[in-house]
Amino acid sequence: MYDNGKKILETERLVLREMTIEDFPFLYEIVSDPETMQYYPAPFSEEKTRAWIDRNIERYANDGFGLWAIILKETGEFIGECGLTLQDIDGELLPEIGYHVHKKLWRRGIAKEAARAVRDWAFVHTEYDILYSYMKYTNIGSYSTAIANGMKKVKEYPDPKNTISYAYAITRVEWEQLKNR
Ligand SMILES: CC(C)(COP(=O)(O)OP(=O)(O)OC[C@H]1O[C@@H](n2cnc3c(N)ncnc32)[C@H](O)[C@@H]1OP(=O)(O)O)[C@@H](O)C(=O)NCCC(=O)NCCS
Repeated sequence: MYDNGKKILETERLVLREMTIEDFPFLYEIVSDPETMQYYPAPFSEEKTRAWIDRNIERYANDGFGLWAIILKETGEFIGECGLTLQDIDGELLPEIGYHVHKKLWRRGIAKEAARAVRDWAFVHTEYDILYSYMKYTNIGSYSTAIANGMKKVKEYPDPKNTISYAYAITRVEWEQLKNR
């Protein structure tokens, strides 16, 4: 599992690496689950999951980043995805940190550990001076993870797919201050 795709970064418990189509069954188990996908219009079909992986492989080539596989070092298992993508946030294409974690591992700090590492990677490896996370206004797990990642709410806006979306963000300056604290 470790060696499927190019390794991007490592934290205490996790490896983040590029996804490959061989990850399909593991990602599908996560994104086809109705509870996990309760804040999305619908759980993902097999077809949508394969297209999702293909889209991220394209992003690695075109942008140099995308959603990466989260591998739990202890077991070598694929337990989710986290990474940076360009997303339409209230009409602007902005760098966004996103995350999905297998529900059997929720509330153990996995998303926080992965998202912080992605944030640090992005400020080191890209020129962006602000990073976002956005979510449906009811997605408490998602916005709590954004807050744990040092972000603050910067926007609340009507969004057809989410009714209302919240956008959270951290600037490069705020990130520098966090590091020096
Ligand atoms: C959102 C998600 C990735 C969080 O993953 P996780 O590994 O359980 O999160 P963590 O354990 O790292 O928690 C991060 C912070 O959020 C808080 N949190 C996580 N889930 C929460 C919930 N359901 N309710 C309240 N707080 C929550 C944690 O307490 C922690 O805050 P703290 O550092 O102040 O203690 C996970 O719930 C998930 O996969 N959800 C479904 C997919 C999804 O909606 N993704 C976001 C799309 S916008």
